Amino acid sequence: MEESIAGLKRTKMCGEFTSNDSGMEVVVMGFVAKYRNLGKILFVDLRDRTGVLQLAFYSDSNIETFEKALRIRNEFVILVKGVITNRTEKNINKNMPTGEVEVVVNELKILSEADTPPFSIGDVSANEALRLKYRYLDLRRESLQNKLLLRHEVTLITHKYMDKMGFINVETPFLGKSTPEGARDYLVPSRVNKGLYYALPQSPQIYKQLLMISGLDRYYQIVKCFRDEDLRANRQPEFTQIDLEMSYVDSIEDILQITEGLVKEIFKETIGIEFPSKFRRMSYKEAMNRFGSDKPDTRFGIELCDLTSLLKNVDFGAFKLAQQNGYSIRAINVKGQADISRKEIDKYSDIAREYGAKGVFSIAYKNNEVSSSLLKYMDDNIISSISTITNAQEGDLIIIVSDKDKIVFDALGACRLYVGKKLGLFDENTFDVLWVTEFPLYEYDEDEGRLVAMHHPFTSPMNEDIGLLDTNPLEVRAKAYDLVINGQEAGGGSIRIHSRELQRKMFDLIGLTEKDIVDRFGFFIEAFSYGVPPHGGLALGLDRLIMLLSGTDNIKETIAFPKNQSAQCLMSGAPSTVERKQLEELYDKNK
Ligand code: AMO
Repeated sequence: MEESIAGLKRTKMCGEFTSNDSGMEVVVMGFVAKYRNLGKILFVDLRDRTGVLQLAFYSDSNIETFEKALRIRNEFVILVKGVITNRTEKNINKNMPTGEVEVVVNELKILSEADTPPFSIGDVSANEALRLKYRYLDLRRESLQNKLLLRHEVTLITHKYMDKMGFINVETPFLGKSTPEGARDYLVPSRVNKGLYYALPQSPQIYKQLLMISGLDRYYQIVKCFRDEDLRANRQPEFTQIDLEMSYVDSIEDILQITEGLVKEIFKETIGIEFPSKFRRMSYKEAMNRFGSDKPDTRFGIELCDLTSLLKNVDFGAFKLAQQNGYSIRAINVKGQADISRKEIDKYSDIAREYGAKGVFSIAYKNNEVSSSLLKYMDDNIISSISTITNAQEGDLIIIVSDKDKIVFDALGACRLYVGKKLGLFDENTFDVLWVTEFPLYEYDEDEGRLVAMHHPFTSPMNEDIGLLDTNPLEVRAKAYDLVINGQEAGGGSIRIHSRELQRKMFDLIGLTEKDIVDRFGFFIEAFSYGVPPHGGLALGLDRLIMLLSGTDNIKETIAFPKNQSAQCLMSGAPSTVERKQLEELYDKNK
């Protein structure tokens, strides 16, 4: 039988008691984390959001309460009245913030009984699917609660900072029209407009630009975004952005400055990390050439070396192919790894294959010799030039990939990250923050056989590259920027096009017909006829920031009720089938 609180109030929360409270008569409530029956004494660890407090039931002093307490099991929710008492010296637990005291209980109410949980609370070795199914039980874990508290703190800091900087918080619709972020939309059928669909926003991009056209001047929002894309360790189908947009900017400086201020404040106030007063910047081209990634982890070296001009004339199949097709040949020097086994070298090929390469070639510098299956195709001059370019020394292993630029960068970039982690080349507790700028405005989509916008089609080209739009659009750089922290894309944004002619040209180049433009963005383009302040903005990934701040590489840990890798909520069973009646209301039965 559940008992009631009967008007009693908690004196404090469990984790808040110290020896200063000794002698205090208290009421505390919480979950039973643990109980130990020593025969004449029963100890219970009582847990709430703030920590754990030890309760002691003595049979000598209060037999009735003691006997009632024998019913207690893990996860029961209880209320006790008692007295805060200093523990004897030998019973002090230095590992517990409340470890100097205990509550000597004289009254117990069992507010709710609990079945044995399907896994013990806090056991992270329990199967993840099971923990996701019983997410509300896994959320009783301290480390998960701490991440949600951290998230709360970060949003508070953000609201305060954005307000201080003159940004106003405006909500934008979830039921809207498809937005152009490049992933698949989640669609919602309309009951009252049969056959028509809303799209859940991939971001508030169009709305925030319209707010600038509305004269709101500076907007921000902490907002859910929805993207139906393949999930990874740092991606969720619904995730949260700290989204902002501001008017009267045409260079990237204002946006970077505002964002740096916010990121610095967040890191300092939550985990006490001070970032440099101005974040480093690196162009997209430099990031790709040196690290094979537009979100380089620059906490460690192992940079890419370009061997294309040296090797393209070598009479060897893969290199000849590179010469014929304009591919590149690049390498990394994995320092001190010449001795690794064939199997371990194959691991590099496996990684490279994941990114579309056919494999890797390797050169090992060991026993004062150079060994590689490539040697028979290369003369001494070439071999010695490889050593010079890659700075190879005794004990080093060179990994080479030859393919299309994109494949080479992706493959070697991934091999580099693998090595960095495997050899522990960086301190997990340091933070490395930088802006990657000067992204290409367009990239070529081979499947569609046309140019596509790399960021989104409202991104402004750099002034000095506008002339190239007609002659060499793939060389045009954008006023776009990504914030990269420890090799994670933590945010991104751009200065927007605000001239109608330029916007139209942008659409032309990505092959949108007049009809496409009117159908997809007609209302947006029309708005540009009525006065548009130059504007730009950015969005930070809140979930990713929490990952970085709390040192987890699993985005699910940062979200109260996340989806699994198949975009399912294992707890509620979403997505699920629905009643036929619901479908009939949505779709015309005769169609
Ligand atoms: P972008 O698409 O780069 O830009 O998104 C901004 C940031 O959101 C985070 N992010 C994600 N986090 C978790 N799961 C996902 N599936 C996911 N996708 C993106 C990343 C990313 O840097 N409207 C533009 C911003 C702008 O131009 O102002 C936008 O959405 O941290």
